[in-house]
Amino acid sequence: MKKIIVTGGAGFIGSNLLNYLVPLHTDILFINLDKLTYAANLHSLADIEGAPNYIFEQGDIADQSAVTGLFRKYEPDGVIHLAAESHVDRSIVDPDSFMRTNIMGTFYLLETCRQQWKRDGNHMFHHVSTDEVYGSLGETGLFTEDTRYDPSSPYSAAKASSDHIVRAYHRTYGLPVRVTNCSNNYGPRQFPEKLIPLMILNALEGNPLPVYGKGNNVRDWLYVQDHCEAIWLVFQKGKTGETYNIGGSCEKRNIDVVRLICRALSEETGRPPDDFEKLITYVADRPGHDLRYAIDSSKLKAELGWQPNETFESGLRKTVRWYMDNDEWIEKVRTGEYRKWIAKNYGDR
Ligand code: NAD
Ligand code: TYD
Repeated sequence: MKKIIVTGGAGFIGSNLLNYLVPLHTDILFINLDKLTYAANLHSLADIEGAPNYIFEQGDIADQSAVTGLFRKYEPDGVIHLAAESHVDRSIVDPDSFMRTNIMGTFYLLETCRQQWKRDGNHMFHHVSTDEVYGSLGETGLFTEDTRYDPSSPYSAAKASSDHIVRAYHRTYGLPVRVTNCSNNYGPRQFPEKLIPLMILNALEGNPLPVYGKGNNVRDWLYVQDHCEAIWLVFQKGKTGETYNIGGSCEKRNIDVVRLICRALSEETGRPPDDFEKLITYVADRPGHDLRYAIDSSKLKAELGWQPNETFESGLRKTVRWYMDNDEWIEKVRTGEYRKWIAKNYGDR
């Protein structure tokens, strides 16, 4: 039986990926290696928990001996590496864990693969990364796979470092790797510190909707299922040593995203849009805030035939409904630690 270690499988994208792949590929054993940080929620995996081709292992990728031991135990054929500290605002307040997990954790995984994998063409290390490594665009242009790296935040700088280390392991040691750099994801099971779920939950609870600066920063939104399908396509059929950009061609200013959320909530609840829009509050801008991200995914489309299925309108509707229908999931992420962090860092804005 083929075995794939998915790191960070209890987080937002990892849990969506496992919920998609485990029932679909019963001939593959998926091993979810996750530290269970504040961002994880095992409740996201309830539907596959008992599946015979799924195993959960709690562990820290920045603990080299734990990683080595796990690889000895399972002898995986492949790794899909998603584990990371992922929130830009947290990286500004406390960058330490970002360097540890995103850089050292990636290094220990690669080093273990280098030591344990035979060069028999049967292995693959897929590194899941972000478009934030490219820094900020001006009003025009798109990120291509050849855009120069220019990260702005401790988060994106740590992800950029990890991307470089992955490519170095390919060039130096011939380790079979593939890298994907994706734009902003949204959808079910996203931790409510990121823009879209934060706004949905704040609006439903009548709390302020804090928009940074003037709300003119632009992100290129992609529904999480479309990202998961792209990851699986590249993992299976991409060219070894190559990078693929993934994006939704769906650029939106933050203020427009927040207004669309208010409109979707109004339609779902039957309440007037102003009940939600009146909560919009402009707050101090994020330091080093990148103005605009936009991805050119033509390589992925041309080489592997990928297309996103969800429009922003349909994806946002599904997302809003999901957060309205999943109180239990929301309660589970809203631990004391989450409440404390929000109060300490977002409390006075
Ligand atoms: P997330 O924060 O929701 O989940 C991260 C997961 O990694 C959590 O389950 C956490 O417990 C786990 N983790 C953290 N540190 C760990 C460690 N030291 N050892 C083992 N597990 C650890 O993140 P996400 O949004 O699901 O992002 C997943 C990956 O995709 C990240 O690498 C991120 O950089 C990348 N990415 C995210 C987006 C996005 O919009 N969310 C876009 C492009 C790329
Ligand atoms: P975020 O979801 O943190 O993703 P990223 O910083 O990785 O792009 O933020 C998306 C955009 O929304 C970004 O431009 C910052 C902005 N934003 C706000 O305006 N208010 C908020 O409370 C948050 C969390 C983000």
